[in-house]
Amino acid sequence: MLGNLKPQAPDKILALIGEFRADPRQGKIDLGVGVYKDATGHTPIMRAVLEAEKRMLENETTKTYAGLAGEPEFQRAMGELILGAGLKPETTAALATVGGTGAIRQALELARMANPELRVFVSDPTWPNHVSIMNFMGVPVVTYRYFDAETRGVAFDAMKQDISAAKKGDVVLLHGCCHNPTGANLTLDQWAEVASILEKTGATPLIDLAYQGFGDGLEEDAAGTRLIASRIPEVLIAASCSKNFGIYRERTGCLLALCDNPATKELAQGAMAFLNRQTYSFPPFHGAKVVATILNDAGLRADWQAELEEVRGGMLRLREQLATELRDLAGSDRFGFLAEHRGMFSRLGASPEQVARMKEEFGIYMVGDSRLNIAGLNEATIPVLARAIIEAGV
Ligand code: LMR
Repeated sequence: MLGNLKPQAPDKILALIGEFRADPRQGKIDLGVGVYKDATGHTPIMRAVLEAEKRMLENETTKTYAGLAGEPEFQRAMGELILGAGLKPETTAALATVGGTGAIRQALELARMANPELRVFVSDPTWPNHVSIMNFMGVPVVTYRYFDAETRGVAFDAMKQDISAAKKGDVVLLHGCCHNPTGANLTLDQWAEVASILEKTGATPLIDLAYQGFGDGLEEDAAGTRLIASRIPEVLIAASCSKNFGIYRERTGCLLALCDNPATKELAQGAMAFLNRQTYSFPPFHGAKVVATILNDAGLRADWQAELEEVRGGMLRLREQLATELRDLAGSDRFGFLAEHRGMFSRLGASPEQVARMKEEFGIYMVGDSRLNIAGLNEATIPVLARAIIEAGV
C-alpha cells in the first residue's frame, strides 16, 4: 500500500537547513529559516524561559493529562498578551495548539466546520506553508495583491480592491505584524481601512500573529489585531510562541476565536477542543506552562520583555547597518526599504538566478524568493552580503 505514495517535494524553507549544513565552505551565511540567532549564530534559550523551567522542575509533581484545550492560565495569559485590555473572556474561545502552525491548521478546520464552502484569501506572497496546508486540506485559496515589487512596500490600493471581493463565509488571512516573507506591513490607518472592508463584506479575518514583539514592540505589533478585534464581531487569531519566547521546538501556539456572543463562544470552544481531540488529543504542555509561568509572574515577565527588546533592537540595528552598507556600495537609496521593513524577514527582490548566484559564489543561503532572515546576519557578515547583492546585480 505504502508503495502507492507519491514523492513529496521537500518544504523549500526547511530544505535550506540541510543544504546549508552540508556546505563545507567556511564563512557560509545562513539567512534561511526564521529562527533568531545572536551575533555568534547561536539560538539562545531566553533567561526567563530557563528560570521558568527551573521552577517547573522543582514544583512539578505529576505528568498526568492536562486540559484538552490547554490550561486556563495559558489561554488567559495569551489572550491578554494579544488583546490587552480588549480581551473579553466571556466571548473569546481559546485553544492551546502545536505551535503557530497548529493554530493555523485548527483555525482553518474550525472555519471549514462552520462553512464547508470555505474559501481563504491570502496575501501574494504569503508564508508558503499557509498555501500548502490549504491545498492539502482541499480548501480553495484566493490570492490578494499585497507586495509592490517596485517599492518593496504594500500595494495597498490593490490589496483593498482584492479583499473587497471576499464574502460572508470567506476567511481573509492577514499577517498581524512582521509580514512573512516580505517584511512590508500595514500602518494602523491601513488596518482601519481593512476593518471597514471586512465590516462591509462580512468576511472573517484570520490573523496570523507569529512575530509579536519582533517588529515595533509587543504592544505596537498587536495594534492592528486589536483594532480588528474592536470592530469585527468574529475574528480568528493564530498566535505562535516559537519566536517571541524562543521555544521553537516546544511547539507552543494558541488559537483565539473572538465571537459576538457567549453562546457562540461555547459552540466554538467545544468545536476547538473536539479538533484537538481528533488531531492529537492533548496539546503540548511544557511550552505552554513556560509561557504562562513567565506571563503570570511580574519579575519573569519584565526580564522576558527586556530580553525580547534586546533581540528586537539588535535586528533593527542589523537592518540599518545593511541598508547603510548598501547605500554606500550602490550609491543610491534603493535598498532603503530594508531599514523600513519590520520583523525577521525582508524580501530583497532578487531573481531566482541572483539568489542562486549568491549561494554558489558567496555561500549565502536565503529562500528562493529572496527572503532574508535578518537575524542570520552580524556585523562581520553584513559587508559580505552587501557586496554579494551588488555583484549579483540585484
Ligand atoms: C519561517 O518562515 O522560516 C518560519 O516560520 C519557520 C517555518 O516553519 O517555516
